Amino acid sequence: MIRNILKYPDPELKKKSAPVTVITDKVRELVRDMAETMYAAPGVGLAAPQIGVLQRVVVIDISAKDEESGLIVAINPQIIHTEGESYEEEGCLSVPRYAANVRRHARVVVKFLNLEGEEETCNADDLLAIAFQHELDHLDGVLFVDHLSPLKREFFKKKYRRMADESQEA
Ligand code: NI
Repeated sequence: MIRNILKYPDPELKKKSAPVTVITDKVRELVRDMAETMYAAPGVGLAAPQIGVLQRVVVIDISAKDEESGLIVAINPQIIHTEGESYEEEGCLSVPRYAANVRRHARVVVKFLNLEGEEETCNADDLLAIAFQHELDHLDGVLFVDHLSPLKREFFKKKYRRMADESQEA
């Protein structure tokens, strides 16, 4: 089922998510819905709090549309190693029609549980490394715009309020 994606400045997006203790049918259903919602958007990643579920679950798929599905399901993910720096443009399904460059690590090693409850380790670089860092931030109530400099962030807030007003008038 496609779920509604919460949009900035929804206060739910600022909350910290809790770890999954047992992988139940409800968690499996959550993951199915998250994947469906992400593909429909379309987006390359989605975290559970973006659909109002405060659990540490993310889905990521950075493969091109015509490729075989490269769906990654990460439960209770943790970054255990970082390397290098990157400064690439990011967007977010919860912050539509806005993009900005964000400072991230260029490579990360992420440890998480898959849907079978098995521990997996992923060595990620490029877009996948950015996606992991972006989605894991959501689990701690952090949006990519929170990484902007204070000045850029003020600019974003003003611009975004103006955009919201305009779409209400339309
Ligand atoms: Ni996002």
